[in-house]
Amino acid sequence: MLNDLSPIIVTGGAGFIGSNFVLEWLQAVGTPVVNVDKLTYAGNLGNLGKISADARYTFVHGDIGDRKLVGDLLGRCRPRAIVHFAAESHVDRSIHGPDDFVRTNVNGTFSLLEEARAYWTELGQEEKWRFRFLHVSTDEVYGSLGANDAAFSETTAYSPNSPYSATKAASDHLVRAYHHTYGMPVLTTNCSNNYGPYQFPEKLIPLMILNALDGKPLPVYGDGMNVRDWLFVEDHCSAIRAVLSNGRIGQTYNIGGNSERANIDVVTAICDLVDEMRPRAGARARRELISYVKDRPGHDRRYAINAAKLASELAWQPSAEFEAGLRKTVRWYLDNSAWVESVRSGAYLEWINKNYTERVSL
Ligand code: NAD
Ligand code: TYD
Repeated sequence: MLNDLSPIIVTGGAGFIGSNFVLEWLQAVGTPVVNVDKLTYAGNLGNLGKISADARYTFVHGDIGDRKLVGDLLGRCRPRAIVHFAAESHVDRSIHGPDDFVRTNVNGTFSLLEEARAYWTELGQEEKWRFRFLHVSTDEVYGSLGANDAAFSETTAYSPNSPYSATKAASDHLVRAYHHTYGMPVLTTNCSNNYGPYQFPEKLIPLMILNALDGKPLPVYGDGMNVRDWLFVEDHCSAIRAVLSNGRIGQTYNIGGNSERANIDVVTAICDLVDEMRPRAGARARRELISYVKDRPGHDRRYAINAAKLASELAWQPSAEFEAGLRKTVRWYLDNSAWVESVRSGAYLEWINKNYTERVSL
C-alpha cells in the first residue's frame, strides 16, 4: 500500500539541483529516496557523499531511457512519487551537440512516462490517487522577453529558442498529454536560473567564481546585458516539495526568485566577493579580468518569472535574497576546492576549450 512513508524516486539526483533536492529531502522529510542517475559529465556521486551510507538512500546507476531498468525499479520500489530532474541542461552544449538533448530530454522523458504509466495503471484506486509524477522544467520554454514585457506566467505561450529549451518544451507537452489523455497525476514546475552549491562550473556563476579565483579571463557573452531571474537552489527545492505535497494535479507552477539581474552585474558582484574573500596583494581587481566575447547564437535576452500562482495557492516564497545567496555560493566554492578539482577533469577542460577558444574577445 502506498503511503506517505513509501519511497520517492528521483531521476538525475547526482546533478546540481537533484543532489541538493535529495540532501534536503532527507533532512526536511526524511522518507526513503531512490536516485536513478546515468552519471553523465554533470552527475557526481561526490555531491551525495554525506548520505552514501544512509539507510534511507539508494543509488541506482542507470539511464531513464532504459525501459527495463526503470520498469523493474518501479515494480521493486513501489514509489509514491517520481521527481524527474534528469536532463541535459546546458544551452551552450545543446548548440554544439543537440543529439543527447533529444535522447534524454525527449525520448528519455517519454520512456519514463511510459513506464510510470504502466506502474500507475496497475495500482489500486486509492494508490492511484496518491501517486504523483513531478516534472522539473525551466522558464526557458517560454522564450525571450523584451525589457518592458510582463514576466512569464503559467499561461504564457511556449516559444523555445535553443535546442535545450525546445527539448524541455517537448517533454513538458508529453507530461501534459499523459494527464489529459490517460489521467496520470502529473505536476510540472517551470523554474528560473538556479545557483548555489554543487553547480557544475560550465554555468555562468560557478564558471565566473572559479575563473576569478584563478585570475583567468571572465568571458561575458555579447554586451553583458542579458537578464536572468536568479533563484537560490534551496528555494527551488522547497518549491518542488510544496508542489509535490499540495499542487493541484495536472497544473503547472512557475518558480522564480524575483531577482532579475543583468549578467554583467552578476559578474562584477562575483569579482568583488572574490576580491574580498581572497584578496591578492598588489594584483589587479578581478573586475579587470572581464572580457566581452562573441555572443551565444540565438541568445535569449531576458527571462523573468511571475510566481504569483505558487505564492497564492501554496504560500511559497523564496527565502534567499540574491546578494546573500551569491555570497554563500562564492564562500562554498572557496571552501570546497576538493570538489572543484574532482569535477575539473579532462572532459571538463575539453569543453572549456571547445566553447571558449573560438569566442574571440570583442
Ligand atoms: P545537471 O546537468 O546539473 O544534472 C543533470 C543530471 O541528470 C546529472 O546527474 C546527469 O548525470 C543526469 N542525467 C542526464 N541524462 C540522464 C539520463 N539519460 N538518465 C539518467 N540520468 C541522466 O542539471 P541541473 O541543473 O541539476 O537541472 C536539473 C533539472 O532542472 C533539469 O531538468 C533542468 O532542465 C531543470 N532546471 C534547471 C535549472 C538551472 O538553472 N540549472 C533551472 C530550471 C530548471
Ligand atoms: P547559463 O548559466 O549558461 O544559463 P542559461 O543560458 O540557461 O540562462 O548562462 C546564464 C547567462 O550567462 C546567459 O545569458 C549566458 C551568459 N553567459 C556568459 O555571458 N558567459 C558564459 O561563459 C556563460 C557560461 C554564460
